[in-house]
Amino acid sequence: MTEVSVTKDALPAADDLVVLKNVNKHFGALHVLQDIDLTIARGEVVVVIGPSGSGKSTLCRAINRLESIESGFITIDGKPLPEEGKALARLRADVGMVFQSFNLFAHKTVLENVMLGQLKVRKADKKDAEEKARGLLDRVGVSAQADKYPAQLSGGQQQRVAIARALAMGPKVMLFDEPTSALDPEMINEVLEVMQQLARDGMTMVVVTHEMGFARSAANRVVFMADGRIVEEAVPDQFFSNPRSDRAKDFLSKILHH
Ligand SMILES: Nc1ncnc2c1ncn2[C@@H]1O[C@H](COP(=O)(O)OP(=O)(O)OP(=O)(O)O)[C@@H](O)[C@H]1O
Ligand SMILES: [Mg+2]
Repeated sequence: MTEVSVTKDALPAADDLVVLKNVNKHFGALHVLQDIDLTIARGEVVVVIGPSGSGKSTLCRAINRLESIESGFITIDGKPLPEEGKALARLRADVGMVFQSFNLFAHKTVLENVMLGQLKVRKADKKDAEEKARGLLDRVGVSAQADKYPAQLSGGQQQRVAIARALAMGPKVMLFDEPTSALDPEMINEVLEVMQQLARDGMTMVVVTHEMGFARSAANRVVFMADGRIVEEAVPDQFFSNPRSDRAKDFLSKILHH
């Protein structure tokens, strides 16, 4: 038994796409990521939930190396995260990220927003980039908006463009950090539906969200964080109907009853 687990530690399984091992990070005296061990399989959808300040965004940002870590390691598809330079730019292209705010380039059209990374980072041919961008805009349901500027779109449309832009890089994994929390209620579903479809298509996804309906229907696993630690992880049904830790029980009673 021991031998098997030693081998597994040394050689991640081929299906492990994102591996965090013993990851630690502080902001000053605040220990924001504490001994985080998390392995995400190819095609898996992991929903991360937890109280404000528990480290969910920092976790996402560490996976994309927008934040450095102090100890432990993170690998994407078997490769350690590069420190800087071109290798880091390529890594970032493998990890798509969608934030709460849409972060589209205001002075570029929707189509140009979705083409830009392909041209700059992937060095794609312009015609190919445009074809791919139009296909993705169609996939997220905003192809009619291709020639508009971001400010001319609704929040839900902008967020779907942001998803198309991330997908245009051909990422291996997509990180979503509260992608619907800045949206008006009537626009939340159109974004969640795009994410649901992406999950059904087999995309590997890490999703920080308060949308428990999405977690129940799309997640393979729920990871509950509190105070910089992963306190509990389980399949959604088990987590929502039978949380084990007091922290998770307390958190669920607050968000499910208001
Ligand atoms: N750049 C920073 N400098 C200092 N402290 C930070 C920084 N970024 C985050 N923190 C602190 O680290 C802790 C974790 O923050 P993080 O944003 O990861 O939490 P979160 O779980 O995403 O919270 P929320 O649900 O409010 O988005 C918080 O206490 C936060 O104030
Ligand atoms: Mg956050």
